[in-house]
Amino acid sequence: MFADIPKAVDILNKGGIVAMPTETVYGLAADARNPAAIQKIFAAKGRPIDHPLIVHIGDIALLSEWASDISPAALQLAKAFWPGPLTLILKKAPGVLDLITGQQTTIGIRIPNHPIALALLKSIGKGLAAPSANRFGRISPTTAAAVKEELGSAVDFILDGGQCQVGVESTIVDMTGEHPVILRPGMISAQQIADVLDDKVNSKTQDSPRVSGSLASHYAPKTETLLMTIEQLQHLPEDKLMHAVIVARESLTAPYLILMANDPIQYAHDLYLTLRELDKQGFKQILIQTVPDTADWDAIRDRLQRAAKAF
Ligand code: TXA
Ligand code: MG
Repeated sequence: MFADIPKAVDILNKGGIVAMPTETVYGLAADARNPAAIQKIFAAKGRPIDHPLIVHIGDIALLSEWASDISPAALQLAKAFWPGPLTLILKKAPGVLDLITGQQTTIGIRIPNHPIALALLKSIGKGLAAPSANRFGRISPTTAAAVKEELGSAVDFILDGGQCQVGVESTIVDMTGEHPVILRPGMISAQQIADVLDDKVNSKTQDSPRVSGSLASHYAPKTETLLMTIEQLQHLPEDKLMHAVIVARESLTAPYLILMANDPIQYAHDLYLTLRELDKQGFKQILIQTVPDTADWDAIRDRLQRAAKAF
């Protein structure tokens, strides 16, 4: 709520950590210049200390405080997509804490597109480090209640901004090389980026420990989760069906079926909350129908593969 923003600013200025709604997922925010506050983020999440954090700013004028050697192409992307679900990897500015960058020479930065996040960032007037507000390796929260479930009393305050609109984490694009490289697919596609820049955009397919969201078993429910084609789902034996819940875009006969949208934007919006709720219900397995092979499903396919790979 907007009325809670002064309280959140006060807590952050005193070195506390605050859950902040963004358009993608909820973030766990701390003053990005305060090492003790950032340490609290790592402790609350149970996240390895060498994993870099994204800095969130409320105004593009602050970009030069965090990044240097910003290319015209990077600026073009910032202008085209900010505020919005795009994180730019840029050369870090001098003085940025190693805790933020995981000791790398680069920094991840974005302006989120959520009215409460923007109001908070404008009010505090400085950069906030904010990873997703989940325990390390788990599903990112897309509601305030989900943040509470994940972090409980480890977070000093939760700003409630309703359910996140986009529902999956931002697209991460590395702008430090010759051509842009997508490190994590999101709902802003490689094609949209290529269109703005009129340049070739590469995708990094190999897992890299530098991007924790790219570890195989990330975004994972606790319940065994498998991906299956509609044909496989249609031919499951009865005893399997009795203990599993099916998450599909097409209707089929099964005792426990969650029908998802056939539109990727709506599907992304619903995905994490659906998995989170199903994870509490004691099913033996969550069986998810594979999604189309087209680019508009890239981010969703990526998250589903990681959710399923844990087993
Ligand atoms: O949508 C989002 O990006 C959300 C919201 C809260 O903004 N944040 C988010 O943060 O997903 P996190 O920490 O869960 O994921 C950020 C990813 C991590 O995988 C991290 O490794 C990567 O960004 N990252 C951050 N700085 C980086 C850098 N300098 N180079 C490469 N990867 C970086
Ligand atoms: Mg995360």
